[in-house]
Amino acid sequence: MNFKEELKKYQQQINQELEKYTKREKCPEEQLNESMEYSLMAGGKRLRPILTVATYELFKKEVEECLPYAVAIEMVHNFSLIHDDLPAIDNDDFRHGKLTNHKKFNEATAILAGDALLNEAYKVLSENLVKSKGEELAKKVKIFNEFANGVDRMIIGEYVDVEKEGMKITHEELKYIHENKTGALLKLSVRMGAILGECTEEELQRLSKYAEKIGLAFQIKDDILSEEGKEEILGKPTGNDKELGKCTYVLQYGLQGAKDILNKITEEAIQELSIFGEKAEFLKELAFYIKNRNK
Ligand code: IPE
Ligand code: IPE
Ligand code: MG
Ligand code: MG
Repeated sequence: MNFKEELKKYQQQINQELEKYTKREKCPEEQLNESMEYSLMAGGKRLRPILTVATYELFKKEVEECLPYAVAIEMVHNFSLIHDDLPAIDNDDFRHGKLTNHKKFNEATAILAGDALLNEAYKVLSENLVKSKGEELAKKVKIFNEFANGVDRMIIGEYVDVEKEGMKITHEELKYIHENKTGALLKLSVRMGAILGECTEEELQRLSKYAEKIGLAFQIKDDILSEEGKEEILGKPTGNDKELGKCTYVLQYGLQGAKDILNKITEEAIQELSIFGEKAEFLKELAFYIKNRNK
C-alpha cells in the first residue's frame, strides 16, 4: 500500500462529497453561504472523515453508507475551527495559509457560519435517519446520539482550554482538555465507522482505544508544531499558544518530553490494531502520519 496515494484518494473523495453541500445561488444570505464554503473548502487534511471511511472499510465495502457521517463530522470540525479562531477564543488571523473566517468576512458572519455548519451537520444526519427503517434506523439513531455526545465533549474541551488560559494546571487537567477538545471528534470519527460497519463489541473497544490514543497524539503534535513548526507549511501561526498562556504538552513536559509521550502513545495506538492484521495497514500508517506530520 502506498500510504500517501491512499490518503490523497480519500481526501479527493471527501472533497468531492463536501462540494455537493455548497450553496451558490443568489440570495440575501449569499455571504453567509460563501463564508461557510470558505472554511469548509479551505484545504483541511480531512483526517476525521477519512478515519470514518477507513474504519468502516475494515468491515464493509459500501462506502456510500458512511459518507453522510464523514461529511457531518467535517462540518462540525470546521465549525469548531471558525469559532476557535475568533477573538474571544484564540484570536488567530490565519488558518490554511489564508485569513481566518472572521478576518475575511466579519465576526458576526463567522459566528453564524459556525452555527450554520453545526446545524448543517445535524441536517445531513437527520435526513439520513429519515430514509432508514428497522434495524438500520436503530443503528443510526445510536450513532446520532454518539455524535451529539462527541460534539458536546469537543465544546467542553474548548471551554476548559479557554477557562484555564494563563493558569498552572495539573497533568490530568491538561490531558482532560486535549482528550476533549481534540480527542473527542477523532474518537467519534472512528466509532461511527466501526458501528456503521457492524463490528463486534471487542473490535469496537480496540478501535475506541486506538482512537483515544491517536486523538491525544494529534493534539500533542499540534502543541509541538506550535513550538517548532514552520508557519508557511502549517498555514497557521506558531508561538500563539505561548502568547495566550495556553497550557500545552510542551509547556508541561518540555519539547523532548512531549515528543517521548507522542512516540509512546503512537506505539500503543498501533498495538490496539493487532487483532485486525493487514486490513488495518492504512489506520496504522495514519497513526505514524499524525506523529510525523509537519502540517
Ligand atoms: C486543527 O485540526 C485543530 C485541532 C484539533 C488541533 P486539523 O489539523 O485536523 O485541521 P485541518 O486539517 O486544518 O482541517
Ligand atoms: C483546536 O485546538 C481544537 C478545536 C478547534 C476544537 P487549538 O486551538 O489548539 O488548535 P489550532 O492550533 O488553533 O488549530
Ligand atoms: Mg484553541
Ligand atoms: Mg486555536
